[in-house]
Amino acid sequence: MVAEFSGPFAQYGQQMLGGMKAYMKQHGDTVAGKKIEIVQKDTTGPSPDVAKRLAQELVTRDNVDMLVGFGLTPNALAVAPVASEAKKPMVIMNAATSIITTRSPYIVRVSMTLPQITQPMARWAAKNGIKKVYTVVADYGPGLDAEKAFGEAFKAAGGEMVGSVHTPLQNPDFGPFIQRVKDAKPEAIFLFLPAGEQGIAFMKGYKERGLAEAGIKLIATGDITDDGVLEAMGDPTIGLITSFHYSADHKSPENDAFKKAYADANGTGLRPNFMAAAGYDGMAAIYEALKKTGGSTDGDKLMAAFTRHATSCRRYTSARWKKPAAACTTSSSTSFRIRKTPVRLERCPSGGEI
Ligand code: PHB
Repeated sequence: MVAEFSGPFAQYGQQMLGGMKAYMKQHGDTVAGKKIEIVQKDTTGPSPDVAKRLAQELVTRDNVDMLVGFGLTPNALAVAPVASEAKKPMVIMNAATSIITTRSPYIVRVSMTLPQITQPMARWAAKNGIKKVYTVVADYGPGLDAEKAFGEAFKAAGGEMVGSVHTPLQNPDFGPFIQRVKDAKPEAIFLFLPAGEQGIAFMKGYKERGLAEAGIKLIATGDITDDGVLEAMGDPTIGLITSFHYSADHKSPENDAFKKAYADANGTGLRPNFMAAAGYDGMAAIYEALKKTGGSTDGDKLMAAFTRHATSCRRYTSARWKKPAAACTTSSSTSFRIRKTPVRLERCPSGGEI
């Protein structure tokens, strides 16, 4: 497993691993005669060189059969050639830039892509009286993907884009960006930031600089309302409208079972988010693939199992959704089959959690 386990993105690794452990606790650690062992490696953040070196070590020294994890796009992109060269399946549990799956025939992704979750937000905004939007996105793969997808869908629905800014991935100071947007007086900001700490900082700036009072609405992908940090973001998130493929609040027996398994395996300290769900789904995909190969860990056989069974693969991601919101993609396609990407409103029932 190559993921972010320290630094500002440390929760990515923790959430994905938590989801994997939840699946293994429910289903046992042995499948098709193989004992599953996880060897954890920490990229420490967006560090493509480190990610690549760690993946090479896992393949050559630890002799792993699959490479899994990958919260941040630059880390996933750096490891793709390692997967190709070693012919080892690479199971992506978050990194969400569309093109990633084209970088190796050994990639399978169980999370989402930015266009998938962004277009519904653009259409919702246009339908709900928002005509002028300013985009604020993190300045790397998924942000640029989101900006493009939002602009295209919003303009096609009759909206007007009035500006855009790109914020740095590392240590962003949002103050000046937020002021620039305020001065442009759009009706709304569309925001994509990588989940976690950055959302807390942005919401603080949005509140402090009085954008809501200035009549500037905030719409976003659900990365900003990451279930793991939502409580810490507090009141400024109430009323926020986002579109996303997972919510810990989703009411279904499948999601209840997932959350229970997560708590049983990891305790109740951290609310599971979409990365935990992808960790769980990734493990489900791996178990199913190993059953199909009769326990063979040959990379080509495993990829054939992932790809050929893309239909049942879609079921993995529906573990908690009655109607699958996401699917699993391999290198044959960069797009997810979109069934339903909900648009959600944050609320806080009195005395309850956000
Ligand atoms: C990514 O780097 O691909 C990424 C990271 C965090 C997100 C979404 C995408 O919330």
